[in-house]
Amino acid sequence: MKYLIIKIGGSIISELPASFFKSIVKLKNEGKYCPVVVHGGGPKINEMLQCMQIETSFHNGLRISSPEVVDTAGMVLSGDINKKIVAELLRAGGRGFGFSGIDGAVLQAEPEDSSGNLGNVGKITEVDTELISLLCGKGYIPVISPISYGMKDNTVYNVNADSAASACASALGGNIIFVSDIPGIMNKSINETFIYSQLTEAEVNDLIAENVITGGMIPKVQAALMCLQKEVKETVILNGWQEGSIDTYAAGGSSGTRIVKEEITYV
Ligand SMILES: Nc1ncnc2c1ncn2[C@@H]1O[C@H](COP(=O)(O)OP(=O)(O)OP(=O)(O)O)[C@@H](O)[C@H]1O
Ligand SMILES: [Mg+2]
Repeated sequence: MKYLIIKIGGSIISELPASFFKSIVKLKNEGKYCPVVVHGGGPKINEMLQCMQIETSFHNGLRISSPEVVDTAGMVLSGDINKKIVAELLRAGGRGFGFSGIDGAVLQAEPEDSSGNLGNVGKITEVDTELISLLCGKGYIPVISPISYGMKDNTVYNVNADSAASACASALGGNIIFVSDIPGIMNKSINETFIYSQLTEAEVNDLIAENVITGGMIPKVQAALMCLQKEVKETVILNGWQEGSIDTYAAGGSSGTRIVKEEITYV
C-alpha cells in the first residue's frame, strides 16, 4: 500500500474543519493510501515564546533555535498540538497514534548549518521507518511531531516540519501533500488572487530569486522538491481552505499548486 504523508501546517491546524480529519480516516479505511501525518506549530510556538519572553527570529523561513527555543517548540509541538491532532482523528473515527521524532529516535538529525548560526535547527539524516510501518500495518494513523534527535551529539533538534515530512516521504517512498494557510503558491504581483496550478523546479527557484516565494514558503518548496524521486513525480501544496481538498487529491484531482521536477504534459 502506498504511503501518503500529510504535512499539516501549524498555520492552519486550528482552522481545519472536522471533515478534514474524516477525509484522512476515510483514506485509511478505503485502503488506497496509508496516511502518515507530520505537523508544524509555528503560530502556537510564537505565542508560547512570547508568553515566556524568549526572543525568536527567522532566517530564510527557519526559526533560529537556542536550547530554550527548542524546549518550548518541543512542549508545544510534541505535547499540545500532537495530542490535539490525535484527538481529532479519534473523534473522526480513526486511531491516531502520536509521537515525536525523538521517540525511538525515529527521526535522527544533525545541525542544518554547521557554522552554528541557526542554533539547534536540525536536518534529518535518517528516518527509522520500522515503527511507522508497524503502526500503519496495525491500523493506526501515525502523527509525528518534527522534534528530532542527534545520535552523534545527543542533542535535541528543532526541525522544520516541511523538511521532516519530506524526509519521511522519501524514506517511505510515499506521496506527500502540504496543507497550509494559503490556497497554493500565489503571485500577488500578477494579481491579488493569482495561484499557480503547477510549477517546475526551475520556476520555483526563479520565484525565490524574485522574492515572490518568501518566508515559510521557502523551506516548504525546498522540501517539496527534495522528495521528488523515481516513484514520486509530483507533490502538491494543497488548498488548506477548501473543504474536501484531500478527497479531491485522493480521487486524482488537485487543488492548490503541483510541484514537479520538469514540465509534465498530460495526454
Ligand atoms: N508566494 C507565496 N505564496 C503563498 N504563500 C507564501 C508565498 N510566499 C510566502 N508565503 C508565506 O508562506 C506561509 C506558509 O508557510 P508557514 O511556514 O508560515 O506555514 P506552515 O508551514 O503551514 O506552518 P508551520 O511552519 O507552522 O508548519 C504563508 O502563510 C505565506 O505567508
Ligand atoms: Mg512552515
